[in-house]
Amino acid sequence: MKTLEAKELRHMPTLLLQLSYPTSDPEYAATILRSIEELGVEALELEDTGSLRLIGKGFRNIVLVGVKGGVKVALKVRRSDYAEKSTWREAYMLGLANRVGVGPRLLGHSGPVLVMSLVKGIDLSKWLLHESYSPHEAKQTLLETARQCHMLDQAGIDHRELSDATKHVIVTEEGPVVIDFGSAAPSSHPKNLTSLMNYIYSKPLEDVRTRLGLAKMDRERLRRYKATYSREDFEALLATVGLL
Ligand SMILES: Nc1ncnc2c1ncn2[C@@H]1O[C@H](COP(=O)(O)OP(=O)(O)OP(=O)(O)O)[C@@H](O)[C@H]1O
Ligand SMILES: [Mg+2]
Repeated sequence: MKTLEAKELRHMPTLLLQLSYPTSDPEYAATILRSIEELGVEALELEDTGSLRLIGKGFRNIVLVGVKGGVKVALKVRRSDYAEKSTWREAYMLGLANRVGVGPRLLGHSGPVLVMSLVKGIDLSKWLLHESYSPHEAKQTLLETARQCHMLDQAGIDHRELSDATKHVIVTEEGPVVIDFGSAAPSSHPKNLTSLMNYIYSKPLEDVRTRLGLAKMDRERLRRYKATYSREDFEALLATVGLL
């Protein structure tokens, strides 16, 4: 894969403008480049076409691939049309999630740019609906995702975008990773596991549930979990659905 040294971008106006998405604003692009350099990102990955490699395009950010300390990393860059340009809040929440072993590893943040470990894998929904796996493997993946949701719940961090886990859980060879703490907030009533359970028990996953032999969800067990967030109630809930 081709890369371009970050400092070279200054002399390549067309590529530089790609940093300011969707409006090509030279000033904003220059601000982003300064942040990238400040973060010690040495290079950016390029597509074969020569443009910057874009691995994600959300409503609020674009995600690029860079190199930092010789290792490939993900760069989350605020879009020019998103009001909140600072990544400070998101970095803070991701840092808290990292403390309980959840999320891509936060490697730094500066202004509109956040650097984190690059997660290589497939969206959970795509994985569940289209990949080949054994029921055991799929149950382990869901159990591990649930365990991470439980860790976030216990830490008082609400991800707030997990009911559609489609885009925010990536299944890697080492297991699932919860991404995007852009909407996460401290909460005394986090709904991470609740959201994940609602997702697992949603209509599109009906066939998957049958294939894995999951039992009907006991709503009372879920209510009990939400009242205590205890490990015992977590395990009891997962046991009744057949994930533990
Ligand atoms: N650390 C990462 N490693 C690999 N890919 C990532 C990483 N973070 C984000 N992505 C990719 O970029 C996409 C957009 O990232 P993210 O959801 O964090 O941005 P967003 O602007 O909040 O998007 P949206 O507004 O659509 O939720 C993700 O769906 C994922 O495919
Ligand atoms: Mg997102």
